[in-house]
Amino acid sequence: MRLLLLLSIPVLVHGLENGLARTPPMGWMSWERFRCNTDCQTYPQDCISERLFKEMADMMVKEGYSDAGYEYIIIDDCWLDHKRGDDGKLKPDPTRFPSGIGALSKYIHDQGLKFGIYEDYGNFTCGGYPGVLGHMQTDANTFAEWEVDYVKLDGCYSDPSTMIQGYPQFGSYLNASGRPMVYSCSWPAYMINNHPNYSAIAEHCNLWRNFDDIADSWDSVLSIIDFYTKNEDGFVEVAGPGKWNDPDMLIIGNFGLSLGQSEAQMGMWCLMAAPLIMSNDLRHMRPEFKAILQNKEAIKINQDPLGIQAKQVYKQNDIEIFARPIMPSYQGKYSMAIGVLNRWAEGTPIRVQVSLKSLGLTNVGGYTAKDVFSGVPLGTFSPEDTITLDVNPTSIRFIRLDILSGIRYSTQERWRWNAENRAWMATLEDSLPDQPGNGQKGVCVTKPGLTGWLN
Ligand code: GLA
Repeated sequence: MRLLLLLSIPVLVHGLENGLARTPPMGWMSWERFRCNTDCQTYPQDCISERLFKEMADMMVKEGYSDAGYEYIIIDDCWLDHKRGDDGKLKPDPTRFPSGIGALSKYIHDQGLKFGIYEDYGNFTCGGYPGVLGHMQTDANTFAEWEVDYVKLDGCYSDPSTMIQGYPQFGSYLNASGRPMVYSCSWPAYMINNHPNYSAIAEHCNLWRNFDDIADSWDSVLSIIDFYTKNEDGFVEVAGPGKWNDPDMLIIGNFGLSLGQSEAQMGMWCLMAAPLIMSNDLRHMRPEFKAILQNKEAIKINQDPLGIQAKQVYKQNDIEIFARPIMPSYQGKYSMAIGVLNRWAEGTPIRVQVSLKSLGLTNVGGYTAKDVFSGVPLGTFSPEDTITLDVNPTSIRFIRLDILSGIRYSTQERWRWNAENRAWMATLEDSLPDQPGNGQKGVCVTKPGLTGWLN
């Protein structure tokens, strides 16, 4: 009887509760950049093989990515042999992974990194290799034997209506294996327009792909941002420590994004509390792209312990503003990271002036502001001040505003005109009347040749 009970535990476990991914996972994954290239004769450096993953592990350490916080090296699709072994277990392609997955895992761990692997909930992976369906317990245990730290479970060749049982079931086998493994589910990505059950997903997965695959283009990045901005099924609200929305890999350093677009992807992914999983060739990175990926201030915002995902607070024509509450806090109010995204592709910057109050920043003691990518301090601001930001075409200004403690402004005067910032400054938050002036909503967008309050 006792034995029977023990055997049935895996399918009865409610929730993942594995204590992992308290902040969004950071690492590197093969798919977007290296796809399913299995031709090692023609492409020995770029095919999906143990060599590729060892070289990426070496570069993660040597080039400073691991010091910046990136830790997982994750194999995506096309690592498997087309058939399971005689023992029913998964096995890698023998010519491309001659040393075996256990040995590759050890190599990666020996570099001080963690090791991730890809499988699929269905009969086959998207690339046509064996899936876990019908073998879940065996495969979870095989991953544990290989000392896997992170599993991405895709959803090709499966029936999405069974995912609500199947994904939790595989997660329970991972848990029952005794090895802590981050569990990345593609479950909702197979239910776009079908209202995935996000509270169940967040209960059973550490991260989940919500939307389509990223491709190497600005259009692709924008389509993903748009999907997350619409937040049609309310998935932004369920994110937090241990459970993250995954807008897919960072493509910075590849062929499709300019420098400004790369800052925009990095900035938006940090604001969205997204996993920072790069898919690029770490062996050939231009220093300016590497600097974006390793930017300490950006990563600090991404890894903020509150784990609150940004929301869009403003949208007018080509300008969108996103805000993410972050630490430190003071008297129940948070600091804030903001991103001003400019989608205008015509070749001159747009000037955006935004009042702190319109961003919900009401701490009377004010805030200090810093530009994340340049590291340049922008000064201190009260809630009634406006901050002026010039944003390059198809780019972002990524700013952090740290809350200040104490009253910084004289309580004698209720309002004073700050000539430098061309704004009225309030002194006491509790007694703030409406801002003097013409009742603008707090954001002013100026394109050269067209000036004015657009909202
Ligand atoms: C799907 C996933 C991708 C990648 C491929 C591999 O398309 O969404 O991220 O894993 O499968 O075949």
